[in-house]
Amino acid sequence: MAVDLLLGLQWGDEGKGKIVDVLTKNYDIIARFQGGPNAGHTLEFDGIKHVLRTIPSGIFHEKSINLIGNGVVIDPVVFAKELEGLDPFNIDYRKTLMISRKAHLILPTHRLLDAASEASKGKAKIGSTLKGIGPTYMDKTGRNGIRVGDVEMEGWKQKYRALADKHEAMIDFYNVDIQYNLTEMEAEFFESIDVLKSLTFIDSEEYLRQAIKDGKSVLAEGAQGSLLDIDFGTYPFVTSSNTTAAGACTGLGIAPGKIQEVFGIFKAYTTRVGSGPFPTELFDKVGEDMAKIGNELGAVTGRPRRCGWLDLVALKYTCEVNGVTQLMMMKGDVLSGFKKIKVCTAYKYKGETISHLPFNIESENVTPIYTEMKGWKEDLTKMRDVSQFPQELNDYIDFLEKELEIPIKIVSVGPDRTQTIPR
Ligand code: GDP
Ligand code: IMO
Ligand code: MG
Repeated sequence: MAVDLLLGLQWGDEGKGKIVDVLTKNYDIIARFQGGPNAGHTLEFDGIKHVLRTIPSGIFHEKSINLIGNGVVIDPVVFAKELEGLDPFNIDYRKTLMISRKAHLILPTHRLLDAASEASKGKAKIGSTLKGIGPTYMDKTGRNGIRVGDVEMEGWKQKYRALADKHEAMIDFYNVDIQYNLTEMEAEFFESIDVLKSLTFIDSEEYLRQAIKDGKSVLAEGAQGSLLDIDFGTYPFVTSSNTTAAGACTGLGIAPGKIQEVFGIFKAYTTRVGSGPFPTELFDKVGEDMAKIGNELGAVTGRPRRCGWLDLVALKYTCEVNGVTQLMMMKGDVLSGFKKIKVCTAYKYKGETISHLPFNIESENVTPIYTEMKGWKEDLTKMRDVSQFPQELNDYIDFLEKELEIPIKIVSVGPDRTQTIPR
């Protein structure tokens, strides 16, 4: 048995949570490998909407194990609240949820440092979710971090104190106006550590190695999107982890050769939340309509998402970086009623037409070149089979498949589990 990966190919919020939930029945283990509570993964079934932050999106299926891998950063406070949110649904998470001892902890001062760093940047701010992600990964790579396994050891609180004191000095250094009560934040943090300790900690790389050897199947669930990858995204307007396929190897301890399918998820258009370049962004009524019909508000922060046409230059790039083998197109239903649908197939860059992503995609450098297609009027949300699709939608899908040279295997026509159409 092998490992399949599921990754967002744009700037996040492609619908990863929904599809992981739909696919979980095919897998024994669902594993998150990077990111932290900056993620908000939405699942909808039986008329209820759930938003998951650090917990893998397979948690509602009692037969599968959900694993939080070493590459994830965990905020115990957010995590404890997330568990509380599961309580009404009788999920036996003490049996089915496991946490890598090597995952790093987000401390209260990491959150404060995130806020101080953003405040000091002024207009150049990243638009971080302010969950402490950047500072936590900085401490990880700086070899100062505190890991889940540390809280089982004697003396970890001294290590905590030394790091938190250093962070306080750093916050002072930023010299920005951040109000906080660290005593209160720490009380909440240590209470949440006790909740965290009530769950199962494992050496997850060893657990996965054995599971794969025993013939178990694994689905690795990406967070954020490939254009937010620390190496391959629109740096510096990115997150602080490798959101691309290789991140699953380092974030779970899985050898590259064990990876089989790479499912790439994209919206039928493009959205982005936070700052940074976005060549196909729309500032007109069409963009407003997309945001309104698509209900494009951040699942974590509630911030409005910026909207624009599908960018095939960027999408080809992320398909290649990830080695995507199958595509899934989300939110096709949102485009119903648009008379014309545009797709960016190349950029005008320094007077030339290019079809690869250049180093700098700020709008003053690139102008998108569009192919225009006829839209469809039909409401897709009640459709359950490809045979019901309007011709214009089939033309759109065929065009994308031809350009990307990868099959689109699922078309999603609404947020609910049932609104998922295989092709
Ligand atoms: P994730 O971070 O990739 O898991 O995505 P989010 O949950 O942050 O954002 C996706 C949003 O779109 C959520 O509100 C989903 O419920 C919703 N959604 C997912 N698929 C579809 C779809 O096919 N159509 C519509 N209209 N909404 C969808
Ligand atoms: P999911 O998993 C969309 C964005 C933030 C900001 C940048 C850096 O739900 O797709 P960070 O908090 O990591 O310092 O923010 O990345 N961002 C996301 N955008 N979906 C996400 O996660 C995101 N996680 C971070 O808006 O621009
Ligand atoms: Mg999201």
